Amino acid sequence: MIIQPRVRGFICLTSHPQGTAQHVKNQIEYVKSKGTIENGPKKVLVVGASTGFGLASRITAAFGSDAATIGVFFEKPAAEGKPGTAGWYNSAAFENEAHAAGLYAKSINGDAFSDDVKQQTIDLIKRDLGQVDLVVYSLASPRRTHPKTGVAHSSVLKPIGQSFTDKTVDFHTGVVSDISIQPIESEEDIVNTVAVMGGEDWKFWIEDLKAAGVLADGVKTVAYSYIGPELTYPIYRNGTIGRAKDDLEATVPLLNKLLGDIHGTSYVSVNKALVTQSSSAIPVVPLYISLLYKVMKEKGIHEGTIEQMQRLFAERLYADHTPLDEKGRIRVDDWEMRPDVQEEVAQLWQQATTENLDDISDIQGYRDDFFNLFGFNFPEIDYDADTNELVNVPSIAG
Ligand code: NAI
Repeated sequence: MIIQPRVRGFICLTSHPQGTAQHVKNQIEYVKSKGTIENGPKKVLVVGASTGFGLASRITAAFGSDAATIGVFFEKPAAEGKPGTAGWYNSAAFENEAHAAGLYAKSINGDAFSDDVKQQTIDLIKRDLGQVDLVVYSLASPRRTHPKTGVAHSSVLKPIGQSFTDKTVDFHTGVVSDISIQPIESEEDIVNTVAVMGGEDWKFWIEDLKAAGVLADGVKTVAYSYIGPELTYPIYRNGTIGRAKDDLEATVPLLNKLLGDIHGTSYVSVNKALVTQSSSAIPVVPLYISLLYKVMKEKGIHEGTIEQMQRLFAERLYADHTPLDEKGRIRVDDWEMRPDVQEEVAQLWQQATTENLDDISDIQGYRDDFFNLFGFNFPEIDYDADTNELVNVPSIAG
């Protein structure tokens, strides 16, 4: 079929199998160009492995450190006349590239919050790898069915206390407008968002993996967080999602205690704001990112997900010394948060209007990144050509 982008709001309903494969290939080339990560991981489980930071982590482990990888994700396979999701095609491309390079790579497609998928993962590790020495936890989801209570929790992106009004942009049209977001009406919103995006499920994973004996001595585990600038605090760090991130970060000492007897360590890495399927859904953030991109590109310090994860592995997680901030977190948002970067972004934020957006922001870079997520806008691909939508992830039957 001929596959073109079909966009609805911040979602693209179609993905291109060859374009996503190109995206994966480009990320692999970047990691290879940086050379081998000294003392890097060898057997890696990535939960949330199909897109964004999780995919970049999987690529970094495999192609920067020759690691065997198991990826867990929740994606839709392709059907006749209906393309699969980007994460499905990404995972197919990743496995093909890994296998061609002689690397073990298998995947599990299902609900990572469930006990069943955890058990399937444990069985696969036992059967094929014995143990893993790194567990990356990179889930981003709007909902979670709790495996013990059966309650379906939905997360919300809302301020706490007061309503919040600020600028936002429709990144397709470039129209800048004011948006007002009403605060939570009850504590339930916080409880639900923490249940979905907080640390409990990460803890369940590590508890189950440890109890099954599939974590190697000296295992590391890492999950991802975000802080960002003051201007997004009401909707992000001081909002419901921020409470979930507080909870995720508070899980680190619990996991360190749990892993103490096998000399394991857990980390939260605070990453840079980037265009992913999850971040494009957060109001205000796309305008911030398009200004941030402009400033960071001008200063020559822009990074995408793959550059961030390569730096996380090579210069933080597997460096001789892992530098931590005063709250015990790894920071690879350090360049984003540099005072000179933030001052310039704050000034541009004041000025931003529909009329000047093309000049003062990198809205085009934002759009490119967005379409790239779904395999579009790659010069190597002919989007008018017929392409086979029925691509399988090799390790997943059917
Ligand atoms: P993403 O949307 O690109 O990736 C989410 C992954 O989770 C995908 O692999 C998806 O298949 C998987 N997933 C979702 N629900 C699942 C389920 N029920 N079972 C199995 N897999 C499931 O998201 P992104 O942006 O890479 O986020 C990953 C983490 O990084 C999140 O914790 C996010 O808060 C954090 N982060 C994101 C930043 C950004 O700017 N995008 C900045 C800093 C941190």
